[in-house]
Amino acid sequence: MLAAKIFHWVNIVSIFVMLTSGLQIYNANPVFGGRGGLHIFPLFTLGGWLAGGRHWHFAAMWAFSLNLFWYGIYVFVTRRWQHKFVGANDIKALQKTQNPKRLVYAWHRIVYTSIIPILLLSIFTGMGMYKPAQFPWIVECFGSWQALRIVHFSSVPIVIIFVLIHSFLGWKAGGEKLTESMFW
Ligand code: HEM
Repeated sequence: MLAAKIFHWVNIVSIFVMLTSGLQIYNANPVFGGRGGLHIFPLFTLGGWLAGGRHWHFAAMWAFSLNLFWYGIYVFVTRRWQHKFVGANDIKALQKTQNPKRLVYAWHRIVYTSIIPILLLSIFTGMGMYKPAQFPWIVECFGSWQALRIVHFSSVPIVIIFVLIHSFLGWKAGGEKLTESMFW
């Protein structure tokens, strides 16, 4: 499916830019420990300095958010949501099945489904930091600016762990053929 490949590519590239430029922004004033705190190795950052990182981050946020939005419309309209996301059958399979392949499918859908709210949360918390004057209630939801930053930052390790597990399970479920079909 060409549409799936396009969504996948835009997602991968934009999340890569969000991650690396986000870490550049982080380095200007680390959430953990302030200016003297834990810094990220420059190899993993994008933008060169704070303003550069912000430019990349705010440019890629459009590609990332709109891609997710169009993907949502696409899975809804084409009814793909019915088999792409976790369902009661998968939970049953986890408890009952002796078939290792069925277990992989179940885990694959669980992991695939659980990243969606995480990505939406990164947009929500990002909006709170991007436009705090317009959306003060987003900041209030998290209690403090520091808590908002920590929740936003948490998308970094979660996304990295997701990519590893998702690639592994995709490969276990469909081998090289499925993996390649998601790219070319
Ligand atoms: C997977 C998606 C994303 C990742 C991994 C990510 C990562 C990061 C990181 C690591 C930081 C630095 C946190 C800090 O030190 O306070 C950051 C800051 C920020 N991010 Fe994101 N982000 C993502 C998505 C978004 C989105 C969708 C938006 C906008 C809607 C956004 C808006 C912001 C803003 C406004 C800042 C603070 C900039 C500043 O203080 O100058 N982010 N992001």
